[in-house]
Amino acid sequence: MKALEITGGQELSGTIRVSGAKNACVAILPAAILSDEEVTVCNVPELTDTDALCEILNSLNVSVKRASESVIIDPSKMINVEITENYSKKLRASYYFMGALLGKYKKAVMYFPGGCSIGARPINLHLKGFEALGAKVTNDRNKYIVEADELKGANICLDFASVGATINIMLAATKAKGTTIIDNAAREPEIVNIATFLNNMGARISGAGTSTIKIQGVDSLHKCFHEIIPDRIEAGTYTIIGALCGKNLKIDNIIPEHLDSLISKLIEIGVDIEVGQDYLVVSKKDNYKATTVKTAVYPGFPTDLQQPLTVLLTQCSGKSKVIETIWENRFMHIVYLNNLGSDITIKNQTATIIGPTELKGVKVVATDLRAGAAMIAAGLIAEGTTTITNVEHILRGYEQIVEKLTSVGAKIRNKEI
Ligand code: EPU
Repeated sequence: MKALEITGGQELSGTIRVSGAKNACVAILPAAILSDEEVTVCNVPELTDTDALCEILNSLNVSVKRASESVIIDPSKMINVEITENYSKKLRASYYFMGALLGKYKKAVMYFPGGCSIGARPINLHLKGFEALGAKVTNDRNKYIVEADELKGANICLDFASVGATINIMLAATKAKGTTIIDNAAREPEIVNIATFLNNMGARISGAGTSTIKIQGVDSLHKCFHEIIPDRIEAGTYTIIGALCGKNLKIDNIIPEHLDSLISKLIEIGVDIEVGQDYLVVSKKDNYKATTVKTAVYPGFPTDLQQPLTVLLTQCSGKSKVIETIWENRFMHIVYLNNLGSDITIKNQTATIIGPTELKGVKVVATDLRAGAAMIAAGLIAEGTTTITNVEHILRGYEQIVEKLTSVGAKIRNKEI
């Protein structure tokens, strides 16, 4: 079994370069099949999630070539076959093939997607959107067949500003006849990046980044070159680590505005943080103050940073609270943080953290991707050795995390146990 072993207590300094955004990349790779020609995507992070999507592309006879940080995708010889259950359940983002295949071929056959167990994660809003565009959805247990004679633009108001549903509807509507309006659309920066990618291929999408997105259908999409934005969640994770044990730790190659909600929370707590044009420099300070954080859709505080932030709250004086509003099962890291020495209780969707507490290394589990990041953050400040299992969750979303942390002075290593 793969594990990570961390010896805590090191001061981290130097520079960490942030990779391309996982949650943009995992939609951009499936979206590339909408093109009739080769597309080049750069700043693609090397993650097991991106590898899984490349395997699915190969299974559709799409050629994928990796050259350093770029991926060249050629869908000109593609065939529309069922995406097997094995592939579908490898990751959440496999469901972006539903929108992309429906948009291109008017038919998609696949199974319920996988991903972290952080809640029930239904796909009803995606399917309702496809139906509004004229598709018929047939569902037999885990298998979904989504097909249409013709896709026609429609006005769709999402019940919730879902990231996945907004993207999937954009993908399906890109080649629909007429105009689609998505109201109450999600506004995450990844959505803007994906809309830009589609526009680079010839789509006509406006309003991405606001809650109303307009998609005027086009007949065909063509070759393009596109760059993935920096990963704001990876950047935020390292920034929190900097607040825990950094000394002038530079988080480089980022878009600071994407981290506004985190930066203002860190300043409120008392973290020493310098905001540059495309970087942050963060140092640990003494006497952090307790606070309350409520997760929300962008530009609110991201649920994906809630788990790493909880570790910092264990070091704040007083009673902090984390209110999780997006995922009903995103407190699985708490039991392991308490094993490390924190004092946290959970009631309903709120974690109450009494701090500061000293953490001591023990064996813990990465129950999901961001819980794993939280375990690493905790291990870095815990006394002694922390061993983390289920590290495959972490490798799904953090490129070269061991190498990046080692380069700034952390004692962290891969281990087989
Ligand atoms: N929801 C529904 N029905 C739907 C879709 C969503 O009820 O059809 C609900 C969900 O159950 C959840 C809420 O709406 O309660 C938000 O879901 P959303 O669709 O916005 O999330 P997602 O697209 O499945 C993406 C990221 C997540 C991130 C969320 C929220 C990807 C691949 N995943 O998920 O990232 O937490 O948006 O920002 O983009 C992560 O990176 O660790 C991660 C989990």
